Amino acid sequence: MSSTLRPLIAGNWKMNGLRASMSEFEAMIAGAPGVTGKADLLVCPPATLIAAFAAKASGSKSVAIGGQDCHPKPSGAHTGDISAEMLADAGASAVIVGHSERRADHGESDHLVRQKAEAAWRAGLTAIVCIGETQTQRDAAQTLDICRSQLQGSLPEGARAGNLVVAYEPIWAIGTGLTPTAKDVEQIHQFIRQTLSARFKDEGVGMRILDGGSVKPSNARELLGVANVNGALIGGASLKASDFLAIAADCP
Ligand code: 13P
Repeated sequence: MSSTLRPLIAGNWKMNGLRASMSEFEAMIAGAPGVTGKADLLVCPPATLIAAFAAKASGSKSVAIGGQDCHPKPSGAHTGDISAEMLADAGASAVIVGHSERRADHGESDHLVRQKAEAAWRAGLTAIVCIGETQTQRDAAQTLDICRSQLQGSLPEGARAGNLVVAYEPIWAIGTGLTPTAKDVEQIHQFIRQTLSARFKDEGVGMRILDGGSVKPSNARELLGVANVNGALIGGASLKASDFLAIAADCP
């Protein structure tokens, strides 16, 4: 069943993008009708651009907008933070939580990521929860153990196929040009699927599992064709409309 899930092609712009980037986003909207037969499209720009991108996308409805992080609380004295409710208010329909850069740069724990996913749901957003191992953990053959414990700790109870997406992003593959082999991706995504369906039953069978880390037009077709890969979470290659759309076009 999972191989029939509609793919999600999500762009994580990270700390990139100024108002001048609107032209690139407009190019994505212009090209979206050519690929929305194959996949859902989501762009997660920096917070400063969410409202403008959402307003621009609202006419076509072919590209959804997401945030890159949210605070667990809806409001309060948390300088510099953004709540899930604020993201929704700005026009977002999803938010990435637990990205490895947040886990590493801001010391985010599985417990905090879980609270953020719950906050996303409270605001009506889809939570895209990121997991993945470091190079050292991979070398020590701990990949599946790390994924298991991150899934256990970061995913709240009651997750449903409609409000939760898992992104497997091996940290050593992010921004490096390195990617796991298709065989490795197949094994790890199958393990994630088994873990999700054991815990969430039919909902876990229907959850999308994205692949991430140096996904680009030259490797997308192979990675997106792997069983239990239900789309991609793309960093660098999502900054260019032509690359982003080319990846979506490679969905099976
Ligand atoms: P790159 O595609 O630049 O490797 O980044 C992946 C990523 O971290 C997406 O969240």
